[in-house]
Amino acid sequence: AGPLAGKHILVTAGPTHEPIDPVRYIANRSSGKQGFEIAGALAELGARVTLVAGPVALPTPLLVDRVDVETAREMAAAVDAALPADAAVMVAAVADWRPVDVARQKLKKGDVLPPLAVAENPDILAALARSAGRPRLVVGFAAETERVVEHATAKRARKGADWIVANDVSGDVMGGDANTIHLVTAHGVENWEKLPKADVARRLAQRIADAL
Ligand code: C5P
Repeated sequence: AGPLAGKHILVTAGPTHEPIDPVRYIANRSSGKQGFEIAGALAELGARVTLVAGPVALPTPLLVDRVDVETAREMAAAVDAALPADAAVMVAAVADWRPVDVARQKLKKGDVLPPLAVAENPDILAALARSAGRPRLVVGFAAETERVVEHATAKRARKGADWIVANDVSGDVMGGDANTIHLVTAHGVENWEKLPKADVARRLAQRIADAL
């Protein structure tokens, strides 16, 4: 029951880890809190939710199907495997690069560190937004430290997303419990007051229900 009953919604959350050797990795900072809150809020409105999660220390929200992944390429494959979906909310802080060669043994302190050759990871959001199986509503996130709305507006076009949820991370958002959001859509920009992440999630889930 609920306004999203019968809808399947895909959510990505958390960071990805790109291994350097068996114990080290490259990653972006992300607690996964906002994405997990969104997955839970969508499920509360009755959606069937697939949450593709990078490595985070968070419990699975009630009634959410969770798929755990480690790397960006695993996340891309899990997103593909979860389709079709009516909407996708891409909250994950995907690492932009991965080391080309993963050392099979732990690199030792004192070793001469080999130069770290990196390759660009797939852009999961941009690929999904331009794919044949594109969900009807594609929502991306943008963490920005300056000119937040300007950068988010450009990102919306570049990624082919319907909405960008722009997040001002110049303050203490990382790992914190509140977010200041600007919602960028085809119709313009909405500036939301600073809200707990759970309230951002509930408001966004309601907007998604209205749009679907
Ligand atoms: O380009 P940038 O990383 O700032 O874009 C952020 C948005 O794109 C987020 O929605 C994020 O989940 C998504 N993204 C992605 N795959 C990437 C990089 C970003 O899905 N490789």
